[in-house]
Amino acid sequence: MNIPFWEESYKVDDVFTFGIEPNETLVEFEKFFHKSDKILDVGCGDGKNSLYLAKKGFTAVDAFDISENAINKLLRLARQADVNINAWVDNLCDFRFEKEYKLVISFGTLHFVKKENWRKFIKDAKENTAIGGLHIIQLFTDKVPASPDIAPYAIGMASDEEIKELYSDWNIIQFKSYIFEDEHPGVPKHLHASNKIVAQRIR
Ligand SMILES: C[S@@+](CC[C@H](N)C(=O)[O-])C[C@H]1O[C@@H](n2cnc3c(N)ncnc32)[C@H](O)[C@@H]1O
Repeated sequence: MNIPFWEESYKVDDVFTFGIEPNETLVEFEKFFHKSDKILDVGCGDGKNSLYLAKKGFTAVDAFDISENAINKLLRLARQADVNINAWVDNLCDFRFEKEYKLVISFGTLHFVKKENWRKFIKDAKENTAIGGLHIIQLFTDKVPASPDIAPYAIGMASDEEIKELYSDWNIIQFKSYIFEDEHPGVPKHLHASNKIVAQRIR
């Protein structure tokens, strides 16, 4: 069975395949939230965004990922930093919301499940977001074919701008469609096409 390239780095605490800096859009919008607001990080990986929020004093950060290695690492890093993150192993295709969130974030994850699954996830997440709350979602689109490192797993790449239509009843504060160059150990430089949306529930 194929194992995604990021799993090796999830086993160790000093290698970060996806970097250690939080996503810049999260940094841009964090000021709109109270430290006690409920936040959900979907496909959190080894947790650069959740850890950033917890270290900034956010006290109600939930985070899940399908990778046990990722969650174990995130919990170790949270312990070392003396911050609290409620992190658990879960599959976003099966996830059932049990609380209402003020902020839902997901970076680089949704395209790893079938389109019907991530579209359903977004629908559920919208219903379980407080009025005034935000979603910040970044996912890959098929404007550029999946690079060999992710091709076996990227089974649900979005069409360009598809995600906008899912938020047509929310206020779309920011939308970006862009192509960027990426590189990982053992994989030649390659391109990804991406959409990133920041949307606010207005009613
Ligand atoms: C490219 S990584 C991004 C990690 C993190 N969001 C970040 O920005 O560093 C994608 C993550 O999605 C997770 N993932 C893939 N399929 C998933 C699923 N069905 N449910 C939850 N997480 C999933 C992977 O385990 C991986 O950690």
